[in-house]
Amino acid sequence: MRIFMDTANIEEIRRGAALGVVDGVTTNPSLVAKEGVEYRQRVLEICEALDGPISAECISMELEPLIEEARRVAAWHPNVVVKIPMSEVGLQATKRLADEGIKINTTLVFSANQALLAAKAGTTFVSPFIGRLNDAGHDGMELIREIVAIYDAFNLPAQVLAASIRNPRDVTEAALAGAHVATIPSTVLFQMVQHPLTDRGIEIFLRDAQKYSPV
Ligand code: G3P
Repeated sequence: MRIFMDTANIEEIRRGAALGVVDGVTTNPSLVAKEGVEYRQRVLEICEALDGPISAECISMELEPLIEEARRVAAWHPNVVVKIPMSEVGLQATKRLADEGIKINTTLVFSANQALLAAKAGTTFVSPFIGRLNDAGHDGMELIREIVAIYDAFNLPAQVLAASIRNPRDVTEAALAGAHVATIPSTVLFQMVQHPLTDRGIEIFLRDAQKYSPV
C-alpha cells in the first residue's frame, strides 16, 4: 500500500519525506486554509519537498470553469493530481480531463456506486472518507472492501485512496481491506513509527550494552 500525507504543512511534509516511506501528499481547501498560505505557492513547495503524486483541489462548481481550473492546476507541476469532488459536474469534468491525460483524484466519496462511476469516468484515485463515514454511524472500512472488490471484479484501473484516516488502526485496516493508498494525517504517520515496547526495548539494550566493551 502506498502512503500519502494528508496535510499542507510543509515542515511536516519535509519530516515525513525524510522517512523515505512517503509516496505522495493530498491537500484540500480546509488543510490549506489552516496554513494561511497561497495555494499554488504551497503546492509547488510540496512538489519540491516530495517526488510523488500531490493532490490539489478545485473549487469551481460549474462544468467549464471547473475544467479550466483543473487544467490550470494540473499545469502547475507534472506531479500535480487534480482533486475534484464527486458530483454530476465532477464526473463530466473527470471524463473530459482524463481523456486529455490529466490525473484526477475524485474526492468526498461516500458510496461504492460513486466510486464505480468515478472509475468509469477515468479517475486515477478515488477517495472514500473513512473517518467521516464512521462519525456518521457507518462502516468506513466496509466501503473500502466493497470498492476494492468492484474494481477487482471489473479490472478497473482506478486506485482506492483511503482518506479521512483518524488513527493508526485505520491504516492497518485500510491495508487489510486492500486499499492501494492511505492518505494519513502527520500525527498518525509519526504515531505509526512508535511502540512503547520498542522504546522500552531500546532502553534495556542500551543499558545492557554498558556492561561490555563495544566492538
Ligand atoms: O483530505 C481529505 C480527508 O482526508 C479529510 O479528512 O479528517 O477532514 O475527515 P477529515
